[in-house]
Amino acid sequence: MDRIFSGVQPSGNLHLGNYLGAIRNFVRLQDQYECIYCVVDLHAITVWQNPEDLRHNTRELTAAFIAAGLDPSKNVIMNQSQNPHHAELAWIFNCVARLGWLNRMTQFKEKAGKNRENASVGLYAYPNLMAADILAYKATHVPVGEDQKQHLELCRDIAQKFNNDFGVDLFPIVEPLILGPATRVMSLRDGSSKMSKSDPSDNSRINLTDGPDAIAQKIRRARTDPEPLPSEADGLDGRPEAANLVGIYAALADGQVATVLQEFGGSLFSEFKNALTDIAVAKLGPIGEEMQRLMAEPAYIDSVLADGGARARALSEPVMAEVFDTVGLVRG
Ligand code: TRP
Repeated sequence: MDRIFSGVQPSGNLHLGNYLGAIRNFVRLQDQYECIYCVVDLHAITVWQNPEDLRHNTRELTAAFIAAGLDPSKNVIMNQSQNPHHAELAWIFNCVARLGWLNRMTQFKEKAGKNRENASVGLYAYPNLMAADILAYKATHVPVGEDQKQHLELCRDIAQKFNNDFGVDLFPIVEPLILGPATRVMSLRDGSSKMSKSDPSDNSRINLTDGPDAIAQKIRRARTDPEPLPSEADGLDGRPEAANLVGIYAALADGQVATVLQEFGGSLFSEFKNALTDIAVAKLGPIGEEMQRLMAEPAYIDSVLADGGARARALSEPVMAEVFDTVGLVRG
């Protein structure tokens, strides 16, 4: 069976964009593939993380995975640092990937900003660790968003160069898995920027832990334009805030934008926002509540991660044995 690997950073403030863009897709894939879902704590520390926050965010993301419907017995759910093979293979890839390749990574340029001299070496080598995450399990498919495509390309280049350099056919050339129409959830305050954990305004996002009152208030305050809703999708052109809210409704309803507009075309936003609040509370409320319940049981969450880690190590062990043997690293 094809094997899926995907990772999410435990960097806090989990929001609707993380759910619709990533976690919800993971749930759909669990019936069709063997899946490994990883809380990538080693990637998170490429920028400063307060240790207490990191622990909390790792457990909270795990709780979100489970609350959204990922079954820890069916999938491997783990945090990256539980399996040392990730870091071990990343070192080997540090010796395969070329400086020129990493210099082209746009995410590093964005994250490092102007003060590149002061960025961590880990932030620079980040894509090599990501390639190791995937290839330690010989995963074949990786569900990722648009922003990770370049890193996945690098993963393919590393696999190819390793196979070439050593004259082996060890690593698969992974395929990105882009699921359906990409759900790009934008800020509720500005329809042209992505919903983000780091936006200073909490009103810009719906957090997965927001209760019904907070959800209702944020939707009520969401920016709109003065026109009623159009009846057809092209009527959303040039109306980013309207397009965002309709897109969120369609995604939550598991439907199409066109169908939503058939129903709400001509409505005022005040009316549409009530309907959006209802569906958001109905879909997200139970997830938020289950997350709170799980967060009250950290020992259970930790046991899921430990069990996932042990199963993950068993999966990557034979791959690592092959890698060591191929590279010429002796082990007894
Ligand atoms: N870099 C990814 C992100 O920030 C997270 C990630 C780490 C990942 N390792 C991965 C995603 C392996 C897919 C596969 O979104």
